[in-house]
Amino acid sequence: MPIEESGDGMRISVVGCGYLGAVHAASMAELGHQVVGIDVDERKIGALNAARAPFYEPGFEDLLARTLATGRLRFSTDIADAAGAAVHFVCVGTPQKRGEYAADLRFVEAATESLLGVLAPGELVAGKSTVPVGTAGRLAELVADKVPGALLAWNPEFLREGFAVTDTLHPDRLVYGLPAGSDREVAERLLDEVYAPIVAAGTPKVVTDHATAEMVKTAANSFLATKISFINAMAELCEATGADVKQLADAIGYDDRIGRKFLNAGLGFGGGCLPKDIRAFMARAGELGADQALTFLREVDNINMRRRIRMVELAREVCDGSLLGKHIAVLGAAFKPDSDDIRDSPALNVAAQLQLQGADVRVTDPAAIDNARRLWPQLDYADTAEQAAASADAVLVLTEWRAYRELDPVAFGKVVASKRVLDGRNALDREAWTAAGWTYRALGRRAG
Ligand code: UGA
Repeated sequence: MPIEESGDGMRISVVGCGYLGAVHAASMAELGHQVVGIDVDERKIGALNAARAPFYEPGFEDLLARTLATGRLRFSTDIADAAGAAVHFVCVGTPQKRGEYAADLRFVEAATESLLGVLAPGELVAGKSTVPVGTAGRLAELVADKVPGALLAWNPEFLREGFAVTDTLHPDRLVYGLPAGSDREVAERLLDEVYAPIVAAGTPKVVTDHATAEMVKTAANSFLATKISFINAMAELCEATGADVKQLADAIGYDDRIGRKFLNAGLGFGGGCLPKDIRAFMARAGELGADQALTFLREVDNINMRRRIRMVELAREVCDGSLLGKHIAVLGAAFKPDSDDIRDSPALNVAAQLQLQGADVRVTDPAAIDNARRLWPQLDYADTAEQAAASADAVLVLTEWRAYRELDPVAFGKVVASKRVLDGRNALDREAWTAAGWTYRALGRRAG
């Protein structure tokens, strides 16, 4: 469904131009608004102004070039350039604190404080970062105290990496966490104006308070993580009984109360969101004296981490019981396909464990090699799957990029030393690989 531009547009600022902010800024310009994206990182701002995406995201660079060319979008390191915007989006990161489960709110606090110097009465600060419940209420008081008449809303974002542009321009819902009293209507009107074409397209809209909006985001990510760990727990049982988790997922997924999406068993979830969000949620529940409500998330986390260990064991098993000196090809370094993001990547975690246990590991990825090399310089890297797999004793497919799903097992079999493949994402055509003479192993499935 095409989204129409909205008239002359509003003036909007977006503070924080990482994944969320850069895509949000360009998308808001696409809707017809006058947007300035602000970030403290000069290199990032330089790249964005030159229409270069600082991260891999299908469709983003085109959108960036198109919106910069209209003159409606620009990027700056100077917060003063945010002055005069009707709505200021806060899109900075909330990483996990070092050595703790809780979220680190330093960047959200710094961004909000920096806005206080430019904010005027009647303007709206709209938080999009994922924050522990209670943060918006606290920041709203700060804003009201320092700039009387300015407002604060929480407006969580549900975009997936790899689909960031589509998810931003065609979200499946809008969630507005609004202040109480008469400010509520003003804030709602401003957000409706920002999202006018999206609202007009009939997108469901949930209008609520700050706390509910903050919790919607963490609850959604916790549910998704739980769904993945549920099917991975079933995979553990399948391994113990000889049942097949892929068929099990298909069969239960036909029940539309369950649904097949996010029931792909394999190496489990990683990335910059699900792992840290469930941990921050547990930490916050503890602070609120409600930790029992979320103890199940600890098990969700445990099930998820156990899959990585199991993958290493499986690799040892197929390598005749020892990893020492074995050449192992790892296909995939990003935490998921169509991304160069390696934050808490299950693939890289497994690759590193194999290397630490004496294997000779060569990793390849269509987009994430540079990032991976910076984090794990001790691993070997190759540009192509064939180069990574040359003379390999085993091939591990750990991120299901299309290029790997579509490998020809016959031709690929000619480059390796031993035709052993471990399908860490249950993404390969088992029959085709076994027919080509490969020993096929996958998590939660019988040996093929
Ligand atoms: C996730 C949510 O899906 C978004 O809705 C949310 O906005 C975002 O976090 C965020 O908080 O910003 P994302 O981290 O991009 O998005 O990735 P997902 O597509 O959710 O995948 C997360 C991980 O789960 C990946 O490692 C993926 O390989 C794994 N996964 C996913 C499975 O192991 N099995 C599945 O069936 C699905």
